[in-house]
Amino acid sequence: MTQIRHLDRAIPRRPGELGVHSLNLFNLIVPDVEDARKFYSAFGLDVREEGDALHVHTKGHTHRWGTIVEGTRKKLNFISFGAFEDDLPRFRERLQDKRIDLLDPPKGFESNGLWFRDHDGTLLEICVAEKTSPNEKSAIDNSSCPPGVQGAPSRSKAPLVTPRRLAHVLVFTRDVAKAIRFYSDVLGMRLSDRSGDMIAFMHGIHGSDHHMIAFLKSDAPGLHHFSWDVKSINEIGLGAMQMADKGFTAGWGLGRHVLGSNFFHYVRDPWGSYAEYSSDIDYIPVDRDWPSGDHPAEDSFYVWGPTPPPDFAFNHDAAG
Ligand SMILES: [Fe+2]
Repeated sequence: MTQIRHLDRAIPRRPGELGVHSLNLFNLIVPDVEDARKFYSAFGLDVREEGDALHVHTKGHTHRWGTIVEGTRKKLNFISFGAFEDDLPRFRERLQDKRIDLLDPPKGFESNGLWFRDHDGTLLEICVAEKTSPNEKSAIDNSSCPPGVQGAPSRSKAPLVTPRRLAHVLVFTRDVAKAIRFYSDVLGMRLSDRSGDMIAFMHGIHGSDHHMIAFLKSDAPGLHHFSWDVKSINEIGLGAMQMADKGFTAGWGLGRHVLGSNFFHYVRDPWGSYAEYSSDIDYIPVDRDWPSGDHPAEDSFYVWGPTPPPDFAFNHDAAG
């Protein structure tokens, strides 16, 4: 495939096809933003207080990945996806063709974007934004140290783990097949892999990790986890310890997934969902089509790792 480039020549773009390029921003409502500030700060994120909201950044990156506001109960309020500027009018036409209602933005989130609801009623935005999904596979550093040199720091000198970027979001859905259809037909994403009607992983078409968003079957929408990219397996372990030291001991890991291949450790957040340290996820370049498969559940969840907690897939957002 001939690869054409966006205005910035370093940004890959799949020619002639309409699709979002990035997970741009999440908006989370929680009962007490102070709980969120403590949790995400401990996780190694750069959490900034602005007015009544928290803005979630990663250290060394200019992008704002999330906003957190206070409300009566925890809820994933909306997900914003980034698109190329000249694609926005085409997305508008597509939404109109599909008779999907265009909505006003939520108060305080006025933007250049298109607002609408997905198959489950979750509020989405497609807006013009920088391409924050990786343009190539993220660099990994699992290097050893030379002979005659100590490889590990002492416990007291262990470096603070600071994730590099928001990698993906996993949400609950009432209907995985409908989710695949909606996010393919409307947002122009592609199915990477699935396990029947239990779980599906989708990627962006302009160069993306194996999944930018994934869908897990439940009886209501909700948030399962946000995943944050770190550069090594060692950083996953250090991150898990960093959280345990702050009292966030519940979770699952260290392990390695099958679909996406990433190494992981999940830390349970104050509301029963998770934040994932993730490293070395599979990457789908702009000029490749991923051979998506439908995998048996017992052979697709994780290659190795401890037994997951019994309530790992429980939808606390639906139970509240
Ligand atoms: Fe994940």
